[in-house]
Amino acid sequence: MFARAWPRIASAAERAGASEHRDEALRGLAGRVIELGAGAGTNFRHYPTSVDTVLAVEPEPHLREHAVAAAGRAPVRVVVVAGTAGALPASAGSFDAAVVSLVLCSVPDQAEALAELHRVLRPGGELRLYEHVRAESAGTARLQRVVDVVWPLFAAGCHTSRDTVGALSPAGFDLVAARHFRFEPCALAAPVAPHVIATARRRP
Ligand SMILES: C[S@@+](CC[C@H](N)C(=O)[O-])C[C@H]1O[C@@H](n2cnc3c(N)ncnc32)[C@H](O)[C@@H]1O
Repeated sequence: MFARAWPRIASAAERAGASEHRDEALRGLAGRVIELGAGAGTNFRHYPTSVDTVLAVEPEPHLREHAVAAAGRAPVRVVVVAGTAGALPASAGSFDAAVVSLVLCSVPDQAEALAELHRVLRPGGELRLYEHVRAESAGTARLQRVVDVVWPLFAAGCHTSRDTVGALSPAGFDLVAARHFRFEPCALAAPVAPHVIATARRRP
């Protein structure tokens, strides 16, 4: 159900401001890029032409079909493949950059996903993130933990309270920049309003 609804949700969010967020998250990328959990391929049109190739990994067949169509309209070469965060279909050190957008909230094991991204990036490679995250205010973060009792059941495993930025250093990434902001395109999105656009660098 979520996979059927997501392309429409993503389009509505684009019109409400996510389009600018995606531009910001992907600005200046170059070389070989891997995108984890590409969904309907909403990022593809935002890649700068300095990117050579994007390997877009998406496990869900319906979303993958949308992603293949979006790849055909992208300004850079995008190859869409099946795969999951825990076993990326790529060899070690083979990418200059990795992109995750609205994915690390949903993967079953965030540490495992970050370990895989660390494996496929070259030393010094960039990880770009556009994610909704745990709120900086303790009160809202407590509320998110309560919401997370039921939210993942209705949103394909998405959690509202993950401290994604805090997970980067233990996974072998140095945070280079992070901009925290609220994005709430509709009232239902209140628990996932705290967002971050960030760049981290893979430690050697
Ligand atoms: C909310 S959608 C975001 C899609 C896209 N990244 C975007 O920015 O529009 C979450 C995505 O995470 C993907 N996903 C969930 N669990 C995953 C896993 N274990 N491995 C890879 N992708 C996963 C879903 O299939 C879906 O495409």
